[in-house]
Amino acid sequence: MSIIFSEKFRTFSLHTNRSTYQMKISDMGYLFHVYYGERIKDEDLSYLITYYDRGFSPNPNQAGNDRTISLDVMPQEFSGTGAGDFRISSIEVENSDGSRVFEGKYAGHRIYKGKYKQHGLPGIRVNENDCVDTVEIDLKDEVSGLKAVLCYTVFENLDIITRKVHIVNEGSGTVRLNKIMSVTMDYIDSDYDFIHFDGRHAMEREMHRDSVHYGQQSVGSLRGTSSHQHNPFVVLCSRDAGEAAGSCYGFSFVYSGNFQCVVQKDQYDQLRLVMGIHPECFAWPLNKGDVFDAPEVVMAYTNQGFTELSHIYHDVFRTNLNDSIYMKQKRPVLINSWEAAYFDFNHETLVKMAKNAACMGVDLFVLDDGWFGERNDDTCALGDWEVNTEKLSKGLKGLVDEINEIGLDFGIWIEPEMVSENSRLYLSHPEWALKIPKRPVTRGRYQLVLDLSRKDVREYIVTFVNQILDSANIKYVKWDMNRSISDAWSGLLDKSDQGKVMHRYVLGLYEILDRLVHEHPDVLFEGCSGGGGRFDAGMLYYHPQIWCSDNTDAINRLKIQYGTSFGYPVSSMGAHVSVCPNHQTGRTTPLQTRAVTAMSGTFGYELDPGKMTAEEKEQCRYMTEQFKKYNDLIFNGDYYRLESPYGDKGFAAWAYISKDKEEGLASVVITDKEPNDAQRYLKFRGLKADAFYEVDGLTDAHCEADGLTDAHCKVNGLTGAVSGRALMCAGIPIDNTLKEYESVQFHIRLHKNNEEEI
Ligand code: DGJ
Repeated sequence: MSIIFSEKFRTFSLHTNRSTYQMKISDMGYLFHVYYGERIKDEDLSYLITYYDRGFSPNPNQAGNDRTISLDVMPQEFSGTGAGDFRISSIEVENSDGSRVFEGKYAGHRIYKGKYKQHGLPGIRVNENDCVDTVEIDLKDEVSGLKAVLCYTVFENLDIITRKVHIVNEGSGTVRLNKIMSVTMDYIDSDYDFIHFDGRHAMEREMHRDSVHYGQQSVGSLRGTSSHQHNPFVVLCSRDAGEAAGSCYGFSFVYSGNFQCVVQKDQYDQLRLVMGIHPECFAWPLNKGDVFDAPEVVMAYTNQGFTELSHIYHDVFRTNLNDSIYMKQKRPVLINSWEAAYFDFNHETLVKMAKNAACMGVDLFVLDDGWFGERNDDTCALGDWEVNTEKLSKGLKGLVDEINEIGLDFGIWIEPEMVSENSRLYLSHPEWALKIPKRPVTRGRYQLVLDLSRKDVREYIVTFVNQILDSANIKYVKWDMNRSISDAWSGLLDKSDQGKVMHRYVLGLYEILDRLVHEHPDVLFEGCSGGGGRFDAGMLYYHPQIWCSDNTDAINRLKIQYGTSFGYPVSSMGAHVSVCPNHQTGRTTPLQTRAVTAMSGTFGYELDPGKMTAEEKEQCRYMTEQFKKYNDLIFNGDYYRLESPYGDKGFAAWAYISKDKEEGLASVVITDKEPNDAQRYLKFRGLKADAFYEVDGLTDAHCEADGLTDAHCKVNGLTGAVSGRALMCAGIPIDNTLKEYESVQFHIRLHKNNEEEI
């Protein structure tokens, strides 16, 4: 059992392979947080909690005249408002008498094998060989009758704890839930940095690291999606933490809508972190007997730095989050028509594009926006999902069949959550869009959002998507969502229930996706929200991959993919090679660099090969081949950030090392070049220190020299195998003739006669 309840000390100890989490039921029935960190045996660490008389920190009634006990100071598992804790709360309610207090006290617990149940929400799945135990702890407010069930599942072998809160109204009156955080983490110290991933459309998930300071720091989204602006994955780490060492705590919210994560350093230098659905725009009335399930947070701890923390999340998300067949089988290399043609295409031009792509080793042709209704630009037709036969003269099936004959699979773009005002759908169902009576609508990219809280809308979406998927041999869907949600008001809900709309929208989306992905198990779904506006573990439960950003500039992508890699695996990041000058930035980078960067993702193309030279096409064919050759290593190996794109060395570098440490592939991109600059060295990580490796450099120049057939060549000056220790501690020189934005890859493999060499 990975969960131990000590009757003697009234503590719960939750053990993963390398971490321990401990809570204690206090004498007065409060649930205190005692410890989270490296795995330890001690059953009771509550000596860490000290008791002093502190001014202006009130004392619970039960304490009588004892002024040393105060909820304002105690580390807690779940903290209500209005009962003496003035820090950021886990819950806010409005009770039937108008009061706003929740004071939860221990009222029982259950420990059992397996995971807690979730209703309509994504979460980490239990696989056959996982060792998984759960504890549910009831905290009840005796006056209102509201009960918070704190649920923790320990995945011992995966080194994670998932948790959520389940609310039950066991009282007789209605309680309005105004806020419910899925995780509350109290620390008795605060020497931490807060790492978060922020940005904007086309520049998502840039990593930011701040020292925790007095007061509150927060990230979140009120856009109805997890957003381009902030990501629901954060890290708290010791001040000295880096890639290879230091204490790190990860929190990943498995949710795709409004969220909030707040860290607060208090008056006594303690820290609290809360994470959950954003309380703004949220209000959920609970009548007698009603329940509310808050989404899940995945927590991980390591004392080995960011790389190790990332590996924990990468492994869990690769094996236990999504049950699509594509998590285990090779993903297709695709070509997408968006940047190649935008809205300007017809049957013939698409077929030509596909033919050219086939010569580059591409497996799947994706027809992006513009194939339906009168959709010749983005001002209209969302909702009119009938094929535009002026563009596709042989219909969708005619096009798909022809592309299949070329030898490519076919994929299609849809944006099911939206409606254009200028569409037949809106004419017949204006009430299906989110909008508030008597108020003018707020447009985003000229479009409105369908009310997914409505069953009829959900049925309509499932029906039309099924129709499209059944109409031809479609193997891939790009599910797009191109605006933030506003005007959250649903015509079918009572006025007292309008605070439910944003969350019900997300639940509605999950219901639709759950049905569709399971009705079409052989279809690969790629998520998208104007690129990476909904890149979160919730969406990855349904989509094996998500279009990482609308920005395809290789140099910008280094930062975007670097930030994304902290919490998400490479196999989840949609990444394509596009043309230069780049459509978003105007920058020109070598084709090889664009390919090397896209290889740090699902790899594909977003260009018209018909407009490329024969040499460029040949280079693409070669790079596709390279990706396919190393696909397994890239998707299933351990990912190492070797040099940050924000660093001062003038290059960014990363590597994939196979789990058995016998093979690796490192990629280097020169980000900043000056004449006569210093020699740069690449230092590997994650190798067997005492083993010897053969090192091959794969570069553009060598491709050319070798007529694009055998790009392997020895690294300058290297005459034989190099020890893992040398590769990690001394490194290898990076060719100083490489120009700005040029790149190189190094492939390493355990030396054949390794035993003798050692
Ligand atoms: C936004 C996506 O991120 C793009 O890749 C493209 O599909 C457009 N939408 C199409 O409207």
